[in-house]
Amino acid sequence: MNRKSVLLTGGGSGIGEGIAQVLGERGWHVLVNDVNAEAAQKVAKAVKGTALPGDIRNQPKALLEQAVAIAGSLHALVNNAGIIRRSNLSETTEADLDLVYDVNIKSMILLSQAALPHLKASGGAVVNVSSIAAKHSQTGAGFYSMSKAAVSAFTRLASAEWGPSGVRVNGVAPGLIRTAMAEAVYSVPELFEKRRMMMPLRRIGAPVDIGRVVAFLLSEDASYVTGQVIDVDGGFTQTLISLLPHPETPKG
Ligand SMILES: NC(=O)c1ccc[n+]([C@@H]2O[C@H](COP(=O)([O-])OP(=O)(O)OC[C@H]3O[C@@H](n4cnc5c(N)ncnc54)[C@H](O)[C@@H]3O)[C@@H](O)[C@H]2O)c1
Repeated sequence: MNRKSVLLTGGGSGIGEGIAQVLGERGWHVLVNDVNAEAAQKVAKAVKGTALPGDIRNQPKALLEQAVAIAGSLHALVNNAGIIRRSNLSETTEADLDLVYDVNIKSMILLSQAALPHLKASGGAVVNVSSIAAKHSQTGAGFYSMSKAAVSAFTRLASAEWGPSGVRVNGVAPGLIRTAMAEAVYSVPELFEKRRMMMPLRRIGAPVDIGRVVAFLLSEDASYVTGQVIDVDGGFTQTLISLLPHPETPKG
């Protein structure tokens, strides 16, 4: 039986690798894109998929068409590649603004536009990787929070415009997930432990936690779900008010 095909950006490491792993296990043909060619090849081999190395900023339409040419059709696009450039907002440089805009927003939009005719033909779906930072400002991360707010807004708009042609568009908003992007924090044991204890589920997320929700959103089980961005954060974003000191706060 022919496998359904999915183009996954930034699939060579971190959350992307976790998404590739879960989708591969569930029978998808994963076309693993990454700017790091070696990483794309390693993951593609592990999930019995196909590597599609390349920078998504560089001719995204051509990248998408290459995926279709390899797979014969396209059933899903997962816009996962994303970057963060740390700075306070007052000091964010124009170069960093342009870079984060190009990777996190512009390439996602151009790839999705290019995928649309193929997804209409297959009755396919898009999943975009946003962040809890879209709704909860991440200070010291420059333009990142704003870029992820745009990812979530794009998800909602595209779902409304593309729904009538049978294409669903959803998103996931990861919380704290241990990947290279966040390794500077998690390699310090005390910081790791402090953060772990701040999660209601008492663990830092793993890339496959995101992969499983992406797999659900691409599956028949989610056939009436579109325009949703699901927080996958171990409950972290529900804890804000409990952080306030109060004399009657129960212990434990
Ligand atoms: N790690 C977290 O805690 C966290 C939380 C919320 C959201 N996210 C989001 O999840 C996504 C994946 O993040 P991650 O933590 O796995 O990061 P990561 O840095 O571990 O992995 C990102 C991958 O994308 C690739 N990539 C970067 N720019 C690219 C480009 N221009 N073209 C093609 N590939 C490119 C990188 O080579 C890398 O393999 C991002 O969109 C990120 O914003 C991560």
